[in-house]
Amino acid sequence: MFQPTDGSYTNGYHHDGAVSSAAGISSGHRVRRVSRGRSRGRRSGVTGSDGAPRVVQWQQHQQQNEYEEEEREKPTPPCTEFDTAYFNSYAHVGIHEEMIKDRARTESYRNAIFQHQNYIAGKVVVDVGCGTGILSIFCAQAGARRVYAVDASDIAVQANEIVKANNLSDKVIVLHGRVEDVEIDEEVDVIVSEWMGYMLLYESMLGSVITARDRWLKPGGLILPSIATLYMAPVTHPDRYGESVDFWRNVYGIDMSAIMPLAKQCAFEEPSVETITVENVLTWPQVVKHVDCYTVTIQELESITTRFKFESMMRAPFHGFAFWFDVEFTGPAVLPLNNGVPPSFVQSSTSYISEGNHRKKRPNPNEALVLSTAPEDPPTHWQQTLVYFYEPLDVEQDQVIEGSLTLSQSKENARFMNIHLEYSSGGRSFVKESVMR
Ligand SMILES: C[S@@+](CC[C@H](N)C(=O)[O-])C[C@H]1O[C@@H](n2cnc3c(N)ncnc32)[C@H](O)[C@@H]1O
Repeated sequence: MFQPTDGSYTNGYHHDGAVSSAAGISSGHRVRRVSRGRSRGRRSGVTGSDGAPRVVQWQQHQQQNEYEEEEREKPTPPCTEFDTAYFNSYAHVGIHEEMIKDRARTESYRNAIFQHQNYIAGKVVVDVGCGTGILSIFCAQAGARRVYAVDASDIAVQANEIVKANNLSDKVIVLHGRVEDVEIDEEVDVIVSEWMGYMLLYESMLGSVITARDRWLKPGGLILPSIATLYMAPVTHPDRYGESVDFWRNVYGIDMSAIMPLAKQCAFEEPSVETITVENVLTWPQVVKHVDCYTVTIQELESITTRFKFESMMRAPFHGFAFWFDVEFTGPAVLPLNNGVPPSFVQSSTSYISEGNHRKKRPNPNEALVLSTAPEDPPTHWQQTLVYFYEPLDVEQDQVIEGSLTLSQSKENARFMNIHLEYSSGGRSFVKESVMR
């Protein structure tokens, strides 16, 4: 969970987005540059036509060879000053404390690891971005023969101490360096990673999971989580608009409404990470992007465009769009829970019924474990991400809201995300551009 550089979760303010030019990873770190010669090919899907998970097969055809060829030729991406600042942000204990205290998150991972114990026991695991090492230790507890715990942040030093204090140094090997740079001299059976940023793709860490997959994962290997889905829905939020804008109409009896244009800009220029409720949501959500971690490519994530069409379920001021995501831990196969895990750890998972691109909530039929950040689910540190308009648009019940959305990695810093929204309703059209820094 890399925090937007504005440092404010709730008001979307940002400063200049500048980063310190802190020193790069020191030569003392266990970083060895490697060629990409061991890149592996693209994988086929993990679910059959019936939706049931199946063992991943390597695609033995031309497309794979071309992909491998392309991968071999690609140089390892350099560690930029933005990357260094990013890794420095993860050196603080607070960010790890917040993530670990997010029980929905951490318990979902622990459950998923034990649910797939038959794939992990006696096997080799790589934990992409191990932080404090918590997921690596869960894997060791689930019987992994060896876990490579990789992190480029200095938090890796702490992870190593934690591993030692838990007498796991024979199993968990902490590699202090980028996944793109460190060398692991064997193929791995399992990749585990908590890579999801706000709005799923902010901070662009999924690319590093893809790199790990293509470098080390064995054919038929397991990736946890395996599927991620980003959703969007139009929202109404009069209270939020009132707090930030209408507030200025009467301040201790003084008319400060002259400041309202600036207040709108400051409050709504940037996406805002905050918690909403189902009452704020005007319709069922629509899928923006469905990611299969076994097959997704880095190129595919550089720019994502989707068209949307909603019908408002009520008459209300339409203030903007909300985004949230879920991830599924389905893997090559869903196995019964391990006896060692108390049943209370198992969250009932939820998913949505498809209606075209629209989704409705339903109980999960195959008990695949889902970590959801939807407004109707238990809160997580990701909350929801809101893109507000400067002016609300009044919509009637059943009024159509349609348009397109493009999410692209910023050219300035690939960890930032450009959001381009075109939307129209009631015969009026608008464009909203913002950057999540
Ligand atoms: C969201 S935290 C997750 C930490 C830990 N796995 C957990 O679940 O508590 C992501 C971690 O990945 C690390 N990371 C991100 N990209 C990386 C890369 N390319 N190579 C190595 N570490 C990376 C960050 O430094 C950060 O510590």
